[in-house]
Amino acid sequence: MEAAILPRFGDADAFEMATIPIPRPAAGQLLVKVQAAGLNPVDYKTRMGKGQAARFTLPAILGWDIAGQIADAGQGAHKFKPGDRIFGMSNFPGPANAYAQFAVVQENEFTLVPDNVPDDMAGATPLAALTAWEALYDHAELKAGMRVLIHAAAGGVGHIAVQLARITETYVIGTASAQNHPYLKELGANECIDYREQRFETATAPVDVVLDGMGGETALRSLDIIKPGGVLVSLPSMFKDDPDVLARAKEKGVRVVWMSVRPAGERMEQIAALMAAGKLKVKVAASFPLKEVTKAHQLLESHHVQGKVVLLPN
Ligand SMILES: NC(=O)c1ccc[n+]([C@@H]2O[C@H](COP(=O)([O-])OP(=O)(O)OC[C@H]3O[C@@H](n4cnc5c(N)ncnc54)[C@H](OP(=O)(O)O)[C@@H]3O)[C@@H](O)[C@H]2O)c1
Repeated sequence: MEAAILPRFGDADAFEMATIPIPRPAAGQLLVKVQAAGLNPVDYKTRMGKGQAARFTLPAILGWDIAGQIADAGQGAHKFKPGDRIFGMSNFPGPANAYAQFAVVQENEFTLVPDNVPDDMAGATPLAALTAWEALYDHAELKAGMRVLIHAAAGGVGHIAVQLARITETYVIGTASAQNHPYLKELGANECIDYREQRFETATAPVDVVLDGMGGETALRSLDIIKPGGVLVSLPSMFKDDPDVLARAKEKGVRVVWMSVRPAGERMEQIAALMAAGKLKVKVAASFPLKEVTKAHQLLESHHVQGKVVLLPN
């Protein structure tokens, strides 16, 4: 099979295409023909030698988001049948080898792709959707009527979070550049803030929850708009335990969570059910054949993608 191999940590052009043996599924595992592998910022951070790089040995195959058909099953893997279309976030934060024509996955981390969801959309979904779900429902304990501010609302996690927050009947405010405001309105956002023109912390009334896909100064400034007793859920792990954020949060009576997304097969089922019902749509901004992995990484690294970028290995 063809795979995009990373022989060394480095720039987006560090990838090389290689022909390698198709892996075999062990007990409880499935062999998946990868139709779409979604990209996430942790992919390029890991490629640079940051992110989850310490868990990889070189040469490595990157990627965690997989959608595809079951080609084979290991002993005791009975949840699905050959040919079923499944999707999930595989083995995160350990290696999952998604940037290849075939990958071996744990069946308990995967679920069936709804018939109305195309492969590219399915591959774009798992990590971002699991993150948005865990942030809003587990950490922020979102409830109807709350006010929620979502940073980077047009991005991979953000555009899903806007939809989940609206499904929960919260009042949603999203930050994005002005060109993305019509899109955020389409997703159901009640208010949009152009972070380039306005200081978000004074542009709207106080909120109960901030979902922060930016970190750093954005996390710190977010504490000025959260009500006492509210919560800041911050995603970029490089800013974890920032002492300035912790000190200001204490002063303001705000809870701060730096989360790290966890695999969860049963949650993938809930996400799939929303997609089947047409309530959650994941946007694929661009898709690339596997051999154009460098271009795909360069696009994602621009940090201005609306929705998601995927690789199509087959
Ligand atoms: N800890 C975890 O478990 C976890 C899980 C998932 C993601 N993450 C992290 O969360 C971050 C976001 O991930 P993602 O997949 O959503 O990223 P992404 O898709 O690359 O985000 C792109 C979006 O960011 C927006 N943006 C850029 N600068 C902005 C600013 N200053 N203010 C507001 N929006 C801005 C862009 O909108 P415009 O084009 O309009 O500027 C674009 O739509 C990354 O650092 C990622 O590593 C962490």
